[in-house]
Amino acid sequence: MTMHSETEKTSCCGPTCCSDENEVQSHAITEDELKDSIRAKYGQIAEAAGSCCGPNCGCGSETDEQVLNVMMNDKYASVDQQIIDAADLGLGCGTPTAFADMEEGMRVLDLGSGAGIDVFLAAKAVGPTGKAIGLDMTDEMLKRARANKAKLGITNAEFWKGEIEDMPVESDSIDRIISNCVINLVPDKRKAFSEMFRVLKSGGRFTISDIVSIGQIPADVRKDLELWAGCVAGALDKEEYLQIVRDAGFTNLKLEKEKSFSLEKNMSFGIESITLTADKCPPSVKGQ
Ligand SMILES: C[S@@+](CC[C@H](N)C(=O)[O-])C[C@H]1O[C@@H](n2cnc3c(N)ncnc32)[C@H](O)[C@@H]1O
Repeated sequence: MTMHSETEKTSCCGPTCCSDENEVQSHAITEDELKDSIRAKYGQIAEAAGSCCGPNCGCGSETDEQVLNVMMNDKYASVDQQIIDAADLGLGCGTPTAFADMEEGMRVLDLGSGAGIDVFLAAKAVGPTGKAIGLDMTDEMLKRARANKAKLGITNAEFWKGEIEDMPVESDSIDRIISNCVINLVPDKRKAFSEMFRVLKSGGRFTISDIVSIGQIPADVRKDLELWAGCVAGALDKEEYLQIVRDAGFTNLKLEKEKSFSLEKNMSFGIESITLTADKCPPSVKGQ
């Protein structure tokens, strides 16, 4: 992601690529405005089907694409190419399934499942006795994921409509939560992590790839709807993010992967992609 000041255009890559100008609000953005804008952007991307959206769109400068690809496109290694071809829109920033320690028979929940890439990989890992559920709030993404499921002939995956901060998921019912480049988009991250803690079984674990900042994101960047949808403006400072995870009750936090990358301009903050695991320990087991 190439960063620009609020008066300049964003580059034509990532979720911002189909609009002409940054949408910077002069007032504080409400959570509803933010979510409507995120739904609209990802709805466009879902429907674009290979046109100029996403990091591989080819309509930014070469440098823009290189920078963005460093951030967004961690390559899936040794996984089913058919699944990648059908469902990888290049919107992730890690490979959470590679660290999620999934076993046959488990119930896995993917938060912000997009076109379904990580749901299908989880479905393979948990086998016919397990289930992978994708949760997403954008109708067009759900439609695309369900079409991919039919195309791939996968029977132990489902896609549910819902919001991460208020999940339509039973408490203590999930063995593994995964998520790829989504929590930064959620306005209320405390609510998101406390919902994760609620739905996980005791002994369950999450593995999340996400974008965090090093230092605080300045107020003018926070007000930029395009940069929210582009996974930058909603990023929290890494230490603050980790503290929210601990406050929600999670233990054994482990940073499986960290990758920092440079922004085009000298900004007052840095950006990193991280892959984090944490456990919901049984009450009798003391976490770290
Ligand atoms: C950057 S894309 C990532 C998609 C997918 N995880 C991947 O790696 O391809 C973000 C996805 O999260 C969804 N999303 C964003 N905020 C959400 C929320 N609060 N609740 C549910 N889904 C959300 C969007 O609709 C979109 O499909």
